[in-house]
Amino acid sequence: KERKVLYSGMQATGKLTIGNYIGALKNWVNLHEEYDCFFGVMDLHSLTVRQNPTEFRQNARRIYTQYVAAGLDPKKNCIYFQSHVPAHAELGWVLDCFTYMGELNRMTQFKDKSAKHADNINAGLFTYPALMAADILLYQSDLVPIGADQKQHLEICRDVAERFNNIYGDVFTIPEGYFPKTGARIMSLAEPTKKMSKSDENTNATIYLVDDRDTIIRKFKKAVTDSDAEVRYDTENKPGVSNLMEIYGVVTGKSMDEIAKEFDGKGYGDFKLAVGESVADMLDPFHQRCAELEKDKTFIDECIKENAEKASYFANKTLRKVHKKLGL
Ligand code: ADP
Ligand code: NA
Repeated sequence: KERKVLYSGMQATGKLTIGNYIGALKNWVNLHEEYDCFFGVMDLHSLTVRQNPTEFRQNARRIYTQYVAAGLDPKKNCIYFQSHVPAHAELGWVLDCFTYMGELNRMTQFKDKSAKHADNINAGLFTYPALMAADILLYQSDLVPIGADQKQHLEICRDVAERFNNIYGDVFTIPEGYFPKTGARIMSLAEPTKKMSKSDENTNATIYLVDDRDTIIRKFKKAVTDSDAEVRYDTENKPGVSNLMEIYGVVTGKSMDEIAKEFDGKGYGDFKLAVGESVADMLDPFHQRCAELEKDKTFIDECIKENAEKASYFANKTLRKVHKKLGL
């Protein structure tokens, strides 16, 4: 392996949010030149929730296009659909057999998601981390840039890989997480103690990458703050304002101190408008690029096909090694 390998992905459902962008996609773009990168549209993971097939397919494709529009190069990076590479499901099963119930029971995401989908707490939701471990380990990944919410899952991945290696020798590279210094956890605009998520039903509390300027500004204007009218970073006592500061900081490159100074003596109205405008400005070129890519369907079709083959090549190499070790 000449260069280090970077792996990341997002679920193929829902509309990507600025949380996904700031916490993940933006960092991928910053790192993609230095690593051999694999970026998955994780459609198998999406099956833990019932999907409408037509919408699901369109949605997954839109996410693929958004990866490219954000600046990932599908000719240099391997951008692919998880379901196009059967090795994910195969290694996922193997790793199910190396992951303990006790470990999975500790996952806060499982607890959160089963509370939300009480009518469909399926086995896939429970073993999700084992499939995620397979995603990462198949490519002998060194680095996994993710938001803070995925930290627990990455720890399971590392533990399972080490467990396997201890029995069978050096089969898997043990991956490291990469967490952004700021923006690892963008919060809901309505409930700033809860992370912004594409599966949140409150669409007004969530900024989607497809939102236009007016929608973005309108949503920021309604963002929950507090009653003391002071732009100061204090996540404990001022979660709403701190979240907006963090978003503004990531988008403009300004520090929390600089932002506090900029809005010293001004009201929250001015502050929220500035945050909204900065996000809209950031997304302008992205929207243009999405529109161009949507016009040229064959380019994306070609990339999807080429990259499925490329990903399969690397994934199958690891899978063969695993089979051999196991006696399959
Ligand atoms: P979601 O949680 O929005 O459904 P995924 O689970 O598909 O999205 O996560 C895709 C990536 O985006 C992961 O790396 C995740 O950590 C990151 N991410 C998701 N939401 C946020 C957020 N609010 N802030 C920062 N990063 C986030
Ligand atoms: Na998530």
